[in-house]
Amino acid sequence: MSDDRVTDPGLEPGEQDVDRALRPTSLDGFIGQETARRQLGIFLEAARGRQEALDHVLLAGPPGLGKTSLARIVANEMGVGFHPTSGPVLERKGDLAAVLTALEPRDVLFVDEIHRLGRAVEEVLYPAMEDYEIDVVLGQGPAARTLRLDLPPFTLVGATTRTGLLSSPLLGRFGVVQRLDYYGQADLARIVQRSGGLLGMRVDERGAAAIASRARGTPRIVNRLLRRVRDVAQVEGHDLISHAVAMNALDLLEVDAIGLEEIDRRILRCLAVTFDGRPVGLGTVADAIGEAPDTVEDVYEPYLLQEGLLVRTPRGRVATPRAYRHLGIDPPEGHPALFPV
Ligand SMILES: Nc1ncnc2c1ncn2[C@@H]1O[C@H](COP(=O)(O)OP(=O)(O)OP(=O)(O)O)[C@@H](O)[C@H]1O
Ligand SMILES: [Mg+2]
Repeated sequence: MSDDRVTDPGLEPGEQDVDRALRPTSLDGFIGQETARRQLGIFLEAARGRQEALDHVLLAGPPGLGKTSLARIVANEMGVGFHPTSGPVLERKGDLAAVLTALEPRDVLFVDEIHRLGRAVEEVLYPAMEDYEIDVVLGQGPAARTLRLDLPPFTLVGATTRTGLLSSPLLGRFGVVQRLDYYGQADLARIVQRSGGLLGMRVDERGAAAIASRARGTPRIVNRLLRRVRDVAQVEGHDLISHAVAMNALDLLEVDAIGLEEIDRRILRCLAVTFDGRPVGLGTVADAIGEAPDTVEDVYEPYLLQEGLLVRTPRGRVATPRAYRHLGIDPPEGHPALFPV
């Protein structure tokens, strides 16, 4: 069964282990996201006190912000088993039935990319979530019978990068919905310090701040930049990652002042230069940079949108005036008309 989806295309296979090693395992080790942490802390304590399963939890937000980490933390903090799976893996009703019937009381079933569950499978989930029961069909044709099975009380933790794609019956069955937002610089700098410690590196305060400032608000990216900066520092013979060492490495890696990497700039250049500011369909952007449309939409665009570098219009994606300024080129005649001030 596939465990953790790694949506960061910059992460090479061997690095997934390091990524996992850096994953916080308790709520106290989870940095930032104060609201989500405080609320989950209370719900966990209450459920533990009553010796009940925690209510079903939906975690939503862009890639790399800690959804999978939090799901594991929920299981750890409850002291129960963790069963990871994902929407695309649960292809048939029977796949879900097999997973559900293997649960022990109060266990956590983690369904990553839950917005990609098929309709038929999703319908099996409704009575499972609500009444802890499922109907299993035995046999085929006229001889088929339906058997109702009781499930132990369990907690479904769903993760999604797109709350908008969830059906309302499914959304309505989650007792707790937590939205994770991009992290602030201070929290990211703390993550750099924590990860640096775990990797046995010395990073000073300003070095950590420099890496944090270019990590696009995302813990997974901050950890990746830290590893790359470490490589550069090691080769250049520095044993402390100071501000100067970090900045020099980040420039070498072509991570710019607002954290964009070459691939992000290619998306913007495609819109601003290749298509000269006209609205461009997602498929065309994806083709132009050689990535899958889903990856463009889920991984790269959210941050460009949030930074006001790109907008989605009914006719397609458009680079904003800020994107032109960032690329250091002039918008075409008439372009600003799209953005009345
Ligand atoms: N709050 C945090 N504190 C410290 N490290 C964190 C935090 N959140 C995430 N991380 C780090 O970032 C990495 C990515 O987090 P995680 O895999 O949980 O993200 P995700 O939201 O599940 O991403 P995806 O949508 O791609 O599955 C983790 O391995 C962990 O090292
Ligand atoms: Mg994940």
